[in-house]
Amino acid sequence: MGAPGAAPARPLDAGPARARRTAGPTRRVEQVTGTGPDAVEPRTTELRRIERDLHDGAQARLVAVGLRLGAAGALIDRDPQAAKKLVTEAQENVGRALQELRDLVRGIHPPVLAERGLVDAVRALVLDVPLKVEVRAEVPGRVAGPVESAVYFAVSEALANAAKHSGARHATVRFSHTAGLLRAEVADDGHGGADPLLGSGLRGIQGRLAAFDGTLSLSSPPGGPTRLTMELPCALSAPTAATACGTGCSCC
Ligand SMILES: Nc1ncnc2c1ncn2[C@@H]1O[C@H](COP(=O)(O)OP(=O)(O)O)[C@@H](O)[C@H]1O
Ligand SMILES: [Mg+2]
Repeated sequence: MGAPGAAPARPLDAGPARARRTAGPTRRVEQVTGTGPDAVEPRTTELRRIERDLHDGAQARLVAVGLRLGAAGALIDRDPQAAKKLVTEAQENVGRALQELRDLVRGIHPPVLAERGLVDAVRALVLDVPLKVEVRAEVPGRVAGPVESAVYFAVSEALANAAKHSGARHATVRFSHTAGLLRAEVADDGHGGADPLLGSGLRGIQGRLAAFDGTLSLSSPPGGPTRLTMELPCALSAPTAATACGTGCSCC
């Protein structure tokens, strides 16, 4: 962690985040752009996580369902009791697969986002953050679903960082939308020293935003404060209520 009095800033341009840095006498500002080849890495990591979760979770359950139903079919005439037991087990596996799929989908697009939109979802999120967090917003409409998700998880990571690393007592989240640009800022009054090269969370934010041509700027001089600014080009639509997945399905 880049604590006060830490070693001089390293040449961040050489690092995996391809960060661009302009340094003033007392504070460091990095703009983490999403244009370099390494910007793809966090997205790939996220896709791998989803792939692994599907493989080890729902896919494994469904393979077990297939095997049990096959065995039940072979036994049904000879031993109906054993076949019935296998069908019950298959049913349990289907239930678990469905739960795992629900959990996975929630991690990609939490229902609270679809139901309440970005700003209210973040207002709900901050209730669980062990800091005093103020949320201010001037966003007169609804942001497209995938952009909402990207910004929601980015704000969530920034607040988790503030709670975990900063020693802050207070944080502020500000949303605004002007000239086709959504801007989200997360600031804390902690000791500063945030550095994308020291972990994967900030680079994860960068990857999520880069997928939508968004940028992440970070100011976190030793001694603080820390401010993350995310900007994404996006249009607003009229605010609407939606079901959990927007399709009116009955499965989630
Ligand atoms: N708000 C913050 N205040 C102070 N330090 C921070 C803050 N956010 C991040 N850091 C520092 O930057 C590092 C990188 O953060 P991150 O990429 O989110 O990785 P992680 O949280 O997994 O360690 C953290 O390990 C921490 O040392
Ligand atoms: Mg983190």
